[in-house]
Parts: sequence; C-alpha cells; structure tokens
Amino acid sequence: MRILDLGCGDLTEANTLVGDVVAIDKKIIGRPASHVTAMEGDFFDMSPEGDFDIIYANFSLCFNTREVIEKKLPNFLVHLKRKGVFQIKDFHTDDPVVKKRTNLHTEWFFDLVRKNVGAFTFQDEIVFEEEHHHAHHIFTLRAVKE
Ligand SMILES: C[S@@+](CC[C@H](N)C(=O)[O-])C[C@H]1O[C@@H](n2cnc3c(N)ncnc32)[C@H](O)[C@@H]1O
Repeated sequence: MRILDLGCGDLTEANTLVGDVVAIDKKIIGRPASHVTAMEGDFFDMSPEGDFDIIYANFSLCFNTREVIEKKLPNFLVHLKRKGVFQIKDFHTDDPVVKKRTNLHTEWFFDLVRKNVGAFTFQDEIVFEEEHHHAHHIFTLRAVKE
C-alpha cells in the first residue's frame, strides 16, 4: 500500500498509517517512522515517483490559492491508482477560518475532483479544538479513482 500525505505537519498521521508513506510539508516537525519517506518543501513543486493507493491532504490545501490548486493538484491525481482513494479533510464553507483561506467546499473544487478522480462522498463533523478552545465545522471528501 503506497500513501501520499500532502501537508503532513508533525507526521502524526503518516507515522501511524500502515504502508509505505511519502509525507511532504514545507516544514516537517518530528521524526519520520521507518515506513515514512519525509520530503521537505512546497508539495506543488515536487513530483514523487510512482503511483499511490491513497492520496490525502488534511487541512493543508486551503493554505494554497485556487489558481495553484487548479493548475497543480491534477499532477498528483494522475498518480492515483485505479480504485485508489483521494481524501481531503478541510473546513466547511460556514467555518470562520474559511474567510482567511481557500474555500474547498465549493463547485470549482468538486469539478476538479470529478474530472481528475471520480465520484465522491462527504462526511460533516464538528470538532472541538482543545488548543484554541473553539469548535470547527469540517468536512471529509472521499473520492475513488474511476
Ligand atoms: C494546519 S497544518 C495540518 C497538518 C496535518 N496535515 C494535520 O492534519 O495535522 C497545514 C500544513 O500544511 C502545510 N502546507 C500547506 N500548503 C503546503 C504546500 N504547498 N507545500 C507544503 N506544505 C504545505 C503547512 O506547512 C502545514 O504544516
């Protein structure tokens, strides 16, 4: 199982997954486990080799502009194997942080996913963030490559 983590942060998820994980972030905090290849830099400037069973991005795409996402995200999605999963977790349109970031709960992003991956499902959640003492309205979008 090959997995690509775009915007891995402190490697919490990458280190606990089972499989060979390529984890990319502008600044990697923490030490990668033995099954994780950590790459530091802008993920949109990188092109990891080979194909992946899972490509995911948790709360990271929203820090990039619509223009860059539309231009460069498809370059990763061609590396998703057939029946592979593309998943993002990000902030819902009505979450206050969306005003400061790029809203992905929107039609242009859904079109990009439909075109480059396939049909998708949603899951909505309210998550309380201990560190900042407030709740976020988030969504998980999960698409399977056709
Ligand atoms: C809010 S953190 C989320 C970290 C982790 N995915 C999580 O869920 O805990 C967002 C991360 O995305 C990274 N990021 C955003 N855009 C990036 C880009 N274009 N290239 C590399 N890293 C990026 C940031 O450096 C940051 O570490």
